[in-house]
Amino acid sequence: MTQVTLDKIHALCKRRGFVFQSASIYGGLNGVYDFGHLGVLMKNNIRNEWTKSINTSFDDILSFEGSILGSSAVWQASGHVENFTDPMVDCLNCKHRFRADEIDLNKACPNCGQKKWTQARQFNLMFKTQLGAMEDDSSVAYLRPETAQSIFINFKNVLSTYRVKIPFGISQIGKAFRNEITPKQFLFRTREFEQMEIEWFCKPETALDDFKKWCDARKKFYESLSLNQNKIRFRAHDKTELAHYSKCTSDVEYEFPFGWKEIEGIAYRGDFDLSQHSKFSGKDLAVFDEETKQSYIPHVVECSVGVDRLFLTLLFDAYNEDIVEGEERIVLKLSPKIAPIKAAFFPLVKKLNEPMETIYKEIKAKGYSVEFDESGSIGKRYRRQDEIGTPLCFTYDFDSLQDDKVTVRNRDTTQQERISIDAIEEYIKKVLK
Ligand code: GAP
Repeated sequence: MTQVTLDKIHALCKRRGFVFQSASIYGGLNGVYDFGHLGVLMKNNIRNEWTKSINTSFDDILSFEGSILGSSAVWQASGHVENFTDPMVDCLNCKHRFRADEIDLNKACPNCGQKKWTQARQFNLMFKTQLGAMEDDSSVAYLRPETAQSIFINFKNVLSTYRVKIPFGISQIGKAFRNEITPKQFLFRTREFEQMEIEWFCKPETALDDFKKWCDARKKFYESLSLNQNKIRFRAHDKTELAHYSKCTSDVEYEFPFGWKEIEGIAYRGDFDLSQHSKFSGKDLAVFDEETKQSYIPHVVECSVGVDRLFLTLLFDAYNEDIVEGEERIVLKLSPKIAPIKAAFFPLVKKLNEPMETIYKEIKAKGYSVEFDESGSIGKRYRRQDEIGTPLCFTYDFDSLQDDKVTVRNRDTTQQERISIDAIEEYIKKVLK
C-alpha cells in the first residue's frame, strides 16, 4: 500500500515543475503559489471538465467573468465586512498566530511550549485596498474573497441582456483572495486561489428539489474524474455550522491523510444575496412571474469548488508507488482527461528520431497535448512519464521501419501491444473517453 504524504506530493510538484512556492528566490511568500507548465495544463483540464459537467447537467448556464476588485458597498451588503472572519489568538511569548478554533487553548503553544495566550478575537479575512490617490473611506475596495458576489450584483444585467428565464444559472471561474490566518497543507488552504462557482437562480418552491439535483450532478462529476469513491462523501452541515447566508449546505469531502476535508460546498442560499443587494443598492432585483402575475426575488443554489484544492485532491488520489520489473516507480494514475500530457513519443534510438518526430508532430498538430522524448533508456523515459501521469507511451523501433507499427505501453497496467501507426490517434481518443 502506498503511503501518500503531503511532503511526497509537494516534492513531486516541485521536482516536475507543476507548482512552485511564489517568490522562492526571495525566501517565499507564505500561502501563495505559482504554477509551471504541467500545472497549467492540468488546471486547464480541471476547468474544462468542470465547465463541461455543469453545462451537461442543466440547461441554460451562462458564462460570466467579474472583476477581482470589489466595491466596499458590495461586501457591506453581502455581510462579508461584518461576518467573514475567523477567530485568532496570539502566543504572547513567541508571537506565533493561530486560528482559535484549530488549537486547544488549555494546552501550551505548539511552537514554543509556553502557555501565554491572548484573548481570541475576530480577524476579517478580506484583503483591503485603496483605489486611486485618495486614502479615505470612499476609496476603500476589497479583493474578492469569493467569485459569487459579482454574479449576484450583475444578475439583472445578465437577465435583461440574454433571453433566459428562471430557472437558469450563471457560472464563473476566477481568482479569489483570503488573508488566511494560517495557510497550510500546501495548496489546500492558500491566500490566493481560484474558484469554480455556479449560482443557480430558481423559484423558491423548486429550490430544495434543485439543491438535491445539483448534489446528484456534483456526485457524477467526481465519479467522472475517476476519484476513489470510498474517499468521497457528502456531509450536510448542522445548523450551528451554516454560513450567514445559507439555509442548508452539503460539503463534498475527500479523505486526505490529514483527515476528511471539504473540497466543494453546495449551498442553498435562499434569497439572501439578491435581497441584500436590493436593499443596499436601492435597485429592484425581483423578477415577474408570468404564471402567478407576481414579483419575487429568486432563490439561489450554489456549487463552489476551488481549482487548486481539487488539483491537490486529484494528485493525492492518483499518487502511487509500485515496483515494475524490479524497479520502484512513482506513478500518477490520473484520469486521462486530467493528465497534463496525454501521450509521449519515443524513438528507440536517436537514429530513429526522424520518423517518430514526424508522427509526434502530426498528432500535436491535431491539438493533443503530447511530448517527444529521445533521451535516456526507454525504462527511464517510461518512469519520467509515469511520474507526471501520462497514460500512453509510443515507441518507434527498427521493426517499425518494416511493419509501420509502434509499441504502445499503458501507464497503469504497463502492458504493451503493437499497433499500426495509422491507428495511433484513434487509440489516444479511445483512452481519453
Ligand atoms: N461562494 C461560496 C464560498 O466561497 P467556501 O466554502 O468558502 O464557499 C468554496 O469556498 C470552495 O473554495 C471550498 O470548498 C474550497 O474548494 C475553495 N477554497 C476556499 N478557501 C480556500 C483557500 N483558502 N485555499 C484554497 N481553496 C479554498
